[in-house]
Amino acid sequence: MEALALKSGGVYVDATFGGGGYSREILARADSRVIAFDRDPDAIARGQALVQSANGKFTLHQGRFGDLALDEAVDGVVFDLGVSSFQLDEADRGFSFQADADLDMRMEREGPSAADAVNGLSEAALADLIYHLGEDDESRRIARAIVQARAAGPITRTLQLAGIVERAVGGRKGARTHPATKTFQALRMLVNDELGELARGLSAAERALKPGGRLAVVSFHSLEDRMVKQFIAARADAQGRGSRHMPDAPRAREPSFTLERKRATAPGDAETAANPRARSASLRWAVRTDAPAWDDLEAPVLAARAEAEWRKLA
Ligand SMILES: C[S@@+](CC[C@H](N)C(=O)[O-])C[C@H]1O[C@@H](n2cnc3c(N)ncnc32)[C@H](O)[C@@H]1O
Repeated sequence: MEALALKSGGVYVDATFGGGGYSREILARADSRVIAFDRDPDAIARGQALVQSANGKFTLHQGRFGDLALDEAVDGVVFDLGVSSFQLDEADRGFSFQADADLDMRMEREGPSAADAVNGLSEAALADLIYHLGEDDESRRIARAIVQARAAGPITRTLQLAGIVERAVGGRKGARTHPATKTFQALRMLVNDELGELARGLSAAERALKPGGRLAVVSFHSLEDRMVKQFIAARADAQGRGSRHMPDAPRAREPSFTLERKRATAPGDAETAANPRARSASLRWAVRTDAPAWDDLEAPVLAARAEAEWRKLA
């Protein structure tokens, strides 16, 4: 909330409504309007009570933040990336291996699911996916185990996949996380095109913000955090002038953001104790200048092989 520097009469975008914690807090702290989005139909249904009670100060739209297009300039855009506690805790969504469920993971409840990826991608594509989007060094071993297991019949359940991964890499003694955590992360990112969405969402926010407006992004893993960091750093152009090879070259673009704090902000001990899911959160924010928005950010293609095969399935 401090990063957004809320002001009376302001208009704020909550790009990831989820359970509505951010929207509610903005409305409670400032006499402002909130325009919220979520791609998950369940989140939209859950938010209807707030729509009713907010006296026209709150609107909620089902859609992807990558498609964000507004007919007014706004004072702040906030992203709280990833999955919500509701999505994690509702077993039937298949995001978590804490309970057995269909291997689904589709935020929109539409299109091909994580089970389609696990059963349909080649071994090489699965390894590529788990290595690049899961950042798991055991990716080849896991991919091989998945392909061997599915020869006996399709992999359809969360606990089935978690067990296959666990047997493939062995329980890691003393590890804080389950051995399947990274495989699940990679699948979720592929199924929901999370890095593509983030690239499009950041550029959309850049276009939507007024001069002086604020972009605030909370991310939960290093791939996303790196993208946010690089997006803001490039546009805040900390170096100032051309390149080291052409120091007198005119600056290609005027900075579209200024940075008040270069480093990410992490939750304190008290917050992590009260809310363990905040453990890996990283907040970055920046202030929009009056310069034109830069060209759209290109989504990084990290797991090219997996993404190419996935597009055919989709
Ligand atoms: C971490 S939760 C947000 C929690 C929220 N800040 C709260 O206070 O409850 C992330 C939410 O963003 C949604 N989401 C993820 N990617 C999205 C996208 N590309 N477009 C719109 N919503 C998205 C998810 O469906 C999920 O509900």
